[in-house]
Amino acid sequence: MLLPVLAVLICVASMLDAKPLAKKVVNSTNPFGPLTFSSDGTFQISIFEDLHFGENAWDQWGPQQDINSVKVINEILDAESPGLVVLNGDLITGENGFLENSTVYVDQIVGPLVDRGLTWASTYGNHDYDYNISGSTILARERQWYNSRTTQMVFGEDAGVSNYYLPVYDSDCTDESCAPELLLWFFDSKGGFRYQQEDDAGNRVGQPNWVDFTVVDWFLQTHAELVNKYNKLIPSLAFVHIPTFASYVLQEEGVDPNTETGINDDVPLAPQAQGWCADGRNDGSCDYGGQDTPFMQAISEVPGLMAVFSGHDHGNTWCYKWDRQLPNMTVAPQYDVNLCFGQHSGYGGYGNWERGARQILATQSKLENFEVDTWIRLESGNVVGSVSLNGTYGRDRYPKTNHTETYCPTCQY
Ligand SMILES: *[C@@H]1O[C@H](CO)[C@@H](O)[C@H](O)[C@H]1NC(C)=O
Ligand SMILES: *[C@@H]1O[C@H](CO)[C@@H](O)[C@H](O)[C@H]1NC(C)=O
Ligand SMILES: *[C@@H]1O[C@H](CO)[C@@H](O)[C@H](O)[C@H]1NC(C)=O
Ligand SMILES: *[C@@H]1O[C@H](CO)[C@@H](O)[C@H](O)[C@H]1NC(C)=O
Ligand SMILES: *[C@@H]1O[C@H](CO)[C@@H](O)[C@H](O)[C@H]1NC(C)=O
Ligand SMILES: *[C@@H]1O[C@H](CO)[C@@H](O)[C@H](O)[C@H]1NC(C)=O
Repeated sequence: MLLPVLAVLICVASMLDAKPLAKKVVNSTNPFGPLTFSSDGTFQISIFEDLHFGENAWDQWGPQQDINSVKVINEILDAESPGLVVLNGDLITGENGFLENSTVYVDQIVGPLVDRGLTWASTYGNHDYDYNISGSTILARERQWYNSRTTQMVFGEDAGVSNYYLPVYDSDCTDESCAPELLLWFFDSKGGFRYQQEDDAGNRVGQPNWVDFTVVDWFLQTHAELVNKYNKLIPSLAFVHIPTFASYVLQEEGVDPNTETGINDDVPLAPQAQGWCADGRNDGSCDYGGQDTPFMQAISEVPGLMAVFSGHDHGNTWCYKWDRQLPNMTVAPQYDVNLCFGQHSGYGGYGNWERGARQILATQSKLENFEVDTWIRLESGNVVGSVSLNGTYGRDRYPKTNHTETYCPTCQY
């Protein structure tokens, strides 16, 4: 009986101070409740990745790039209406940062989201980890806003920071009492360099660039607990900055521009565990150490995981259904899982592929078949690569994505 009373009180309060109070009031300090589908049964996600804010603060072009990246975020959010924004790694180019203010760029990135009352969830990328910046310091900065849903659920030296999940509930279920309709998993693929550490020679210390096995254990255990708790297989999506070696092998198999629509310019792509040896050395003597194998095993054996979204390789924007044992790979997928890139969103970072942001539309009726729709909204306003990640994805033919580029109009490099 408490809940209706509270609802009435909240209504009265909102009439009194005449501010449009959100329906999902959790308590008086945090206006954002759990994520929910809209009443029309949809839930949309906008992914911004590789924003690379904070390059060369001491030059004219670095700050100008960031002004243009903020414009990209605004243009895309004017055209799309997400229920959640995902910042999928490399928010900041950390190697250019000063210890005392390396995370201030978070304020610029989230400005357009805060203005619109949107909430966001981040994963951290290799450039978010350097001598003067880390996932923990970025998270602390994000915590200035209740809009941030980024959190840390796994602790330990090599676990990274942005490992967590978020449930999305039906529109009628705002008190988290029912089973989630959708689960969103966020993973930290780390990389870059360890915060404030140097070796005996005074060099920065490299950090492993794969999802840690302790995180894989947490994922498998937590997923199993959720299935058990709700006695239901809940469809899910995952986000991680660096793609896995499975994407690398799929690319070698051939990316068809009509079935895996998108740009495929970064060949070969850079996967997790690149540049490391199997024995843990990263002295430049090995191409790939295979340490992402447990994570690949996990994403391909957890039922209901529809797709994994990555960034990192700015010149790749396709989705590929991993549905078979591939040459040279020990992991054979138990369930089909789509491995997708997004779109390079920032003016920082390499490449001039037109900036944009991948959109995901989950519709409750389609989730019954574990299907979601996705497209890329470009800075020009154009939409490319609109596909349905359904049972026939990989065989359905779609229009090829044209190669378009944009240049920083005010940078004068
Ligand atoms: C209200 O929500 C905020 C943000 O989630 C939390 O930090 C705070 O402890 C909550 N307060 C109460 C009284 O529950
Ligand atoms: C880290 O920040 C300090 C303090 O601003 C600066 O002097 C130093 O050059 C930075 N180091 C690196 C490796 O970026
Ligand atoms: C960060 O600090 C450096 C060195 O102290 C300064 O030159 C730079 O302007 C500051 N950057 C920002 C964005 O405040
Ligand atoms: C498999 O590995 C062999 C030997 O390293 C290599 O020559 C071949 O190109 C690889 N094939 C694929 C599809 O990766
Ligand atoms: C998947 O989506 C495509 C594009 O909308 C459609 O042509 C195809 O029939 C769908 N396949 C299934 C199994 O629904
Ligand atoms: C791609 O470019 C071709 C040739 O310029 C043009 O005919 C076609 O309409 C473009 N396709 C899209 C989807 O923009």
